[in-house]
Amino acid sequence: MVVETLVVAMWAMLPAYVPNNVAVLAGGGRPIDGGREWNGRRILGDGKTWRGTAFGTAAGIALAFVLNQLQPLLSGTVTVPTFPPAAAVSLAFGAMAGDILASFLKRRTGRERGASFPGVDQLDFVVVSLSLTAVVATGWFLSVFTLPVIVAVLLVTPLLHVSTNVGAYALGLKNEPW
Ligand code: CTP
Ligand code: MG
Repeated sequence: MVVETLVVAMWAMLPAYVPNNVAVLAGGGRPIDGGREWNGRRILGDGKTWRGTAFGTAAGIALAFVLNQLQPLLSGTVTVPTFPPAAAVSLAFGAMAGDILASFLKRRTGRERGASFPGVDQLDFVVVSLSLTAVVATGWFLSVFTLPVIVAVLLVTPLLHVSTNVGAYALGLKNEPW
């Protein structure tokens, strides 16, 4: 059923959706690249900080454990998965790593901090969080992320990403609406 597929997709992705938003709120302080450049451009830029990455990752992992407590309450309506620790970590950290990788690619292609990179901005964290999860929690990944669930994630994530970023921009939390 389409609704069930969507619910499972969103539930399973929540620990990967939250880190980047928490990083926006918690960011600041020392940049991961320490201000260093490569070929005249910053390696990552001031928008990727240790604090944002640590808080974002921790928030995603914590959310997975909260969802594990809520999961039994939902059974009977839709069967949503619980998150084994390895999957909680890979979804949350993978989302942050994907965003960091995107900044690396932005800098290499001459895009300054805050520049948009259509396509990459919307799906970077999905690709890396799911790939990492497929490696570190393979059995869980294969049982949860069936082909319809993956299709749902790839269709819905860009819409969610655009709307949350426009919202964060409107609230003055983010400098750009992407
Ligand atoms: N942020 C952070 N650490 C991260 C990711 C984000 O501290 N790992 C914070 C930064 O304050 C950043 C803000 O969240 O400015 C918005 O994130 P994002 O849009 O990903 O960064 P940009 O500043 O736009 O930089 P870039 O062009 O490198 O994406
Ligand atoms: Mg940005």
